[in-house]
Amino acid sequence: MAQPYIHGFSTAEQRRLIEQAQVLAPRVFEGIELTDARHLLEIGCGVGAELAILAEGWPHLRLTGVDRSGSQISAARRLLTGSPKTANINLVQADALHLPFPDAGFDRVITIWMLEHVAEVRPVMDEALRVTRPRGKIICTEVDNATLRFDPPDPVIEDWWQCFNRYQQATGGDPFVGSKLDATARALGCKEIETQGVAVIDSLRDAERRTLLVDYLRDLLLSGAGNLIAQGYATETHRRALQAAFARVRANPAIAFRYHAVRLTCSPPACCG
Ligand SMILES: C[S@@+](CC[C@H](N)C(=O)[O-])C[C@H]1O[C@@H](n2cnc3c(N)ncnc32)[C@H](O)[C@@H]1O
Repeated sequence: MAQPYIHGFSTAEQRRLIEQAQVLAPRVFEGIELTDARHLLEIGCGVGAELAILAEGWPHLRLTGVDRSGSQISAARRLLTGSPKTANINLVQADALHLPFPDAGFDRVITIWMLEHVAEVRPVMDEALRVTRPRGKIICTEVDNATLRFDPPDPVIEDWWQCFNRYQQATGGDPFVGSKLDATARALGCKEIETQGVAVIDSLRDAERRTLLVDYLRDLLLSGAGNLIAQGYATETHRRALQAAFARVRANPAIAFRYHAVRLTCSPPACCG
């Protein structure tokens, strides 16, 4: 990777991941069927924020989390050892391309906000399918940064978002990966493929949570600030202008905004004949 991971691994970023998971959980987990699953793996579990939500909502699950970053796994251990509900979660430092698990051991394998950071999605998805049992499912909830819209449009936010996306592409990631998941699953011969939009941020649909959602988006865009400025993709002046733009959005309920994700659900090629 030519330049550092866009969000970095600071304590502030680790805290942001926990807040992000909580703010987005009502949409990220909406309609996901886990009652018939027993063993679930999250690839790219970060600080364990999604695993904590899963343990709370589906206490019957045996949970395993994998992340390639040692500092994320350590943070996940700190977050998850605190409560009896999460104390038995298995955390493993490993790369998504080489999962240290036998074939077909999991009923569900999930990724959340992870595939945008990998250079090639297909081998990662292939490895996820290897560890999924034939009638199990992989569920990938991922970004499509082309969906971020403000109405009326805000040129400061739009400019910053373009810098953010360009930086992520330069680090080998894909900020538009959500729109490519369906084709990747088809190319891999997956079965029972379903792809749906997930309205994670929608100020009209979630009007009562508007302030929370504005603040979430502001923090998401600013999470790249350190690296964007250090690597010459943005300036301090631009960062201050971005903060002012978000203050205007926050103060004016007439400004609408949305940011939608994509959820792919599919079964391994060996499924269903
Ligand atoms: C934005 S975080 C999302 C964390 C978590 N899924 C959540 O929603 O809070 C992305 C995570 O993917 C991890 N990651 C990126 N590439 C990876 C790879 N090849 N193998 C394993 N983990 C990876 C990063 O270390 C980071 O912790």
